[in-house]
Amino acid sequence: MVKTTPQRLKEMKQRSEKIAVLTAYDFPTARLVDEAGIPVILVGDSLGMVVLGYENTLPVTMEEMLHHVRAVARVKPKALVIGDMPYRTYETPEQAVANAQRFVEAGADAVKLEGGEDVLPQVRAVIAAGIPVLGHVGLLPQSVQKLGGYKVQGKTTESAEQLLRDVTLLEQAGVFAVVVECVVASVTKKLTEAIAIPTIGIGAGPHCDGQVLVIHDMLGLSPRLPKHTKVYANITTAMREACAAYKQDVEQGRFPESRQSF
Ligand code: KIV
Repeated sequence: MVKTTPQRLKEMKQRSEKIAVLTAYDFPTARLVDEAGIPVILVGDSLGMVVLGYENTLPVTMEEMLHHVRAVARVKPKALVIGDMPYRTYETPEQAVANAQRFVEAGADAVKLEGGEDVLPQVRAVIAAGIPVLGHVGLLPQSVQKLGGYKVQGKTTESAEQLLRDVTLLEQAGVFAVVVECVVASVTKKLTEAIAIPTIGIGAGPHCDGQVLVIHDMLGLSPRLPKHTKVYANITTAMREACAAYKQDVEQGRFPESRQSF
């Protein structure tokens, strides 16, 4: 398999091939995701919640993101590695370019920024600096306080029209794809039909060119699961059982055996 490029993702849309995207934040997980043939790994700032134990994504820092991007990049995956720019790290075009360059130095192939019309100068500047950008519209977790919670977007005509404007402007600015998060399915359908670049949905229904899931959610590792997640394996139970069995073995002298001893 060859390395995924932003161009290849656009061609997948042209061929009506669906795009599966997963998050990964560390070396072993990224290796397994890559070996499964997933073409895009997002090192999302969701790591703040699922790995670092924050309440939301707002406290995540550049240093934390870069630490995890480096771990994923060490896999040298075939998948396109996208680094998620954390809250308040792309307030101006200059700041966006400087921080996007740090992501590339850490091994990311592209970066993701949350927002539409409001972040166009930043998006244009990063693309002009030669760094591919993934857009992100709909429910923007970094704006959770402004949005008044994790609410489905696109429910009013005004909100649906703004989403359409956002994806169209992002496409014109040169993003190679756009994440559509928690948007009414019928509105997402219109967004997908309106642009030539892929829409990657999460909680946005079936009418996207691709889907993205947070890996801890789909492996059953997150205590609170969003409605839009599908759990593909229950790793929590497997880990609990393994830890309990190990504890019992140690306490009852069953581990280590002679084959684990020197
Ligand atoms: O941070 C993240 O993992 C994301 C995805 C949920 C799209 O932004």
